[in-house]
Order: sequence, then C-alpha cells, then structure tokens
Amino acid sequence: MKTVLEFKARKGQGRISMSTAYTAWEARFLAASPVDCVLVGDSVATVIDGDATTFAATPEIMARHTAAVARGLAGTKFIIADFPFLAARKGIVPAVECAVLLMRAGAHAVKIEGIDGHADVVSHLVESGVPVIVHLGLTPQSVNGLGGYKVQAKTEAAAEALITQARAAEAAGACGVVLECVPSEVAQIITVALAIPVIGIGAGPHTDGQVLVFHDLLGLNPGFSPRFVRAFADAGGAVGNGLNAYAAAVADGSFPSAKESY
Ligand code: KIV
Repeated sequence: MKTVLEFKARKGQGRISMSTAYTAWEARFLAASPVDCVLVGDSVATVIDGDATTFAATPEIMARHTAAVARGLAGTKFIIADFPFLAARKGIVPAVECAVLLMRAGAHAVKIEGIDGHADVVSHLVESGVPVIVHLGLTPQSVNGLGGYKVQAKTEAAAEALITQARAAEAAGACGVVLECVPSEVAQIITVALAIPVIGIGAGPHTDGQVLVFHDLLGLNPGFSPRFVRAFADAGGAVGNGLNAYAAAVADGSFPSAKESY
C-alpha cells in the first residue's frame, strides 16, 4: 500500500496492518515485510527516548524521524506521521507549518489526536491536500486530562460521545480513524458506522485494521505488556542472547579470531 487511495479502498476489503517506525533501520525491515503501512508515531518519545509521555516530540523531531523512515522505506509503503503535542491546537497557520514539515519529510498523511475544537484544522489540511487520520479514544497527548492511560468509552454516555467524535472526524474529511483502548463493541459500532478505515489498537478484532508499536510486536519492549499487545517474536530474547555471547567471547578471548583480524 503506497497511497491514501489504496488505504481508503481497503475499507471492508481485508484488514490493514500498520506498524510504527522511527528510524531507517526499522523501516528497512518493514519495507521487506507484508505490513501494509507505517506510522511515524510520537511514541518515539516514550519507546525510544524513555520519556513517561509523548510531550517531548516536536514538529522538527517528528520531521527528522519521518525523513529517516521515508529513506528506509524507499517508496514501498504508505507513511503516516504524527502531529505532536498540541500542534493541532495553535490554530490553522501553525498546523499548516507542522504539516509542511512532515509532508516535506516524506509523509503521505498526518495523524492528529482528537477532533473536538480543531475539526476546522482537520478540514483545512484535508482541503489543502493533506490526508488526515484522526486518533480517538485513549489519546496519549491528553493523558493528564484523561487521568492516566486508561480504557476509554466504558460508559454508554462516553461511548455515544466517542461515536459522535468519529462521525465528526469523517465529516471533517479524515481519511481514517485510529481508535485506541476502547471496548470491542464500541469499536465495532464505529467501524460499521464510518465509510473510512478504522484502525484499532486495544480496540478488539472488529476494526478495519490494527496498529502496534514495532518494538512491542517484536518483543523488544520487555516489561511493557498491556493486554492489547501480542509479541509475535522474541527479538528482545535474541538481543539478550547476542549480548551475552558477545561479552563472553570478549572475556574468554575467542573474539576476534584470526579471520576477524587484519
Ligand atoms: O504514537 C504512536 O505510536 C501511536 C500509536 C500507538 C497509535 O499513536
């Protein structure tokens, strides 16, 4: 999948797989994989830099990571780049400037958290030719307002509000919605209600696709195991074994061998 048209055409036509990437290194693995599309997430701040929140990501940081991912993917995949903390809340001009940085860096679409109060920004970007995916449910940039990283839309009223937001995102011209940490039934209602793809993370099996963080899906994030993550490989174990073997070979003098020396 390389374009927003292919992304939108997948609604009801086979589930979409999306993985994060932050660097050219991950992107090269993804380029060689059947994973459909790639999100340059502001989770780079937590996953890579070890921050407690995503707040440290800036438009410039996101643009640099987007450029690295675009180099690694070399034109093979549809790339979505995250609008970082409050970048959609400063008005239309700063939002356009953020989009300019991300799209120039190689993104084919941007992802914006929330819709209430900035539907005009989403519409303006879409009308300007920038495809926008709206992220709803647990929006990590609002962790303080939400009182923590918690499952959302658990009450009927909250579920109704989420459905209204999802419809507002579609009405504003969004090409897709990411739904994070919401009950499966609510995600299913939204998936059926919208004509655009709904990508879930911790949103159950009924969405049009799934997104996971690269490091989580490969078992590279030991100690982080929320219910919605499945590690499809033990890459963390392989890294640990490799480091143990390296240190042991240095300690016992078996590395480097004559063949590894000049
Ligand atoms: O930043 C990110 O990685 C995300 C996904 C978890 C959806 O927004």
